[in-house]
Amino acid sequence: MKLSASLRPGIDQVGYVDYNVRDFHSYDTRLGATYNAYLVRDEKVALLDTVKAPYAAQLLRNVSSLTPLDKVDYLVCHHAELDHAGALPAMVQACPNATVVCNAKCKEALAGFFDVSNWKFQIVASGESLSLGKRSLTFVNVPMVHWPESTISYMPEEKILFSNDAFGQHIATSERFDDQYDLPKLLEEAKSYYANIVAPYGKQTLKALEAAASLEIELIAPAHGVMWRSHIPQIVQEYQKWASGQYAPKVLVIYDTMWQSTELMAEEIYAGAVERGQALAKENPLAERFDVQLMHARKTTLTRLAAEALDAASIAFGSATLNAWLMPSMASVMAYFQGLKFREKTALAFGSFGWGQGGPEAIQKNFEALKYHAITETPIKAKQRPNEEVLAQCRAAGAQLAQAAWERFLKDQA
Ligand code: FEO
Repeated sequence: MKLSASLRPGIDQVGYVDYNVRDFHSYDTRLGATYNAYLVRDEKVALLDTVKAPYAAQLLRNVSSLTPLDKVDYLVCHHAELDHAGALPAMVQACPNATVVCNAKCKEALAGFFDVSNWKFQIVASGESLSLGKRSLTFVNVPMVHWPESTISYMPEEKILFSNDAFGQHIATSERFDDQYDLPKLLEEAKSYYANIVAPYGKQTLKALEAAASLEIELIAPAHGVMWRSHIPQIVQEYQKWASGQYAPKVLVIYDTMWQSTELMAEEIYAGAVERGQALAKENPLAERFDVQLMHARKTTLTRLAAEALDAASIAFGSATLNAWLMPSMASVMAYFQGLKFREKTALAFGSFGWGQGGPEAIQKNFEALKYHAITETPIKAKQRPNEEVLAQCRAAGAQLAQAAWERFLKDQA
């Protein structure tokens, strides 16, 4: 479908709104996604990024509705991942006078995906500028936000930051700017995007934020979702919080259950955390609320679990034992969280077993790789149904997790 929105005279959004995508390499895009490309028409004409390959025809239509394709001088590639570079071969073919502008690493990455032997390239270094006439782009490499070749560009004459993946959200919407969309929902989607895509690269994100701090920015134009023009301080502040690993007063209880024994334990941990958390928050005006969530791993998605885990200081992980191992959903959670590298969590392993053991033990073993601090040396376990003693242990552990989350929150606020 045609998507265009004017950022400034001669600068338009020409990407694609994808209402139907629900799986973005395992990211649950329940609200769809957008692949934003921007067309700058100055003395020179530049297209900044493209879209996924299947939508190349729509991109071509959007661009050619604004300028003849033989007038495109530059195809700027900020990031070689195929949601942004997938339609680049089609653009190169359709724009005979265009030069691909990117950094050296990006050229290498593009050559890994496409036959670039006939492409014209202009390699730009970090800090280098490209004049488009009255306007220009200054490139800043931001390695690992989100791939090694990732770069952003700044247009000083318009005070626009083209931030590529950074500050993105997976939302399909007809609204194009942050002040046209519900802000709490927008921040929730930006958080989910950060947790699931950018979180492993917090240190690099902080460096990128440092580089951007010296710039006067009136508009952030990301490669996904809506553009930021009215809530720039809020989204930058949230990114700083997420990238530096600041935690909220929050406990998650994530579990999977076979015959409800692990579920009974999870509910008791949850109750202990709620009781202690609410008592702590009541006495301190710093916390608006103490957030405790009970999350059945098979009734939600990894995407949502990661989004909620990002700012949770304490997490209890529970599993029934299946074939002397974890239930598959909990194995996925542990594997996914290991890749996301959430830092310094306080954790608890728990679960049940019948004639064989191994589920809760496998969680406990994973804490080492995850670099989480476990509050017990061995998991809390129940043989078949948890008895009163086990349930009391669960309740006490929930309170301990809430206490640890609270102390971490106070430390982060200091
Ligand atoms: Fe939106 Fe890393 O690609």
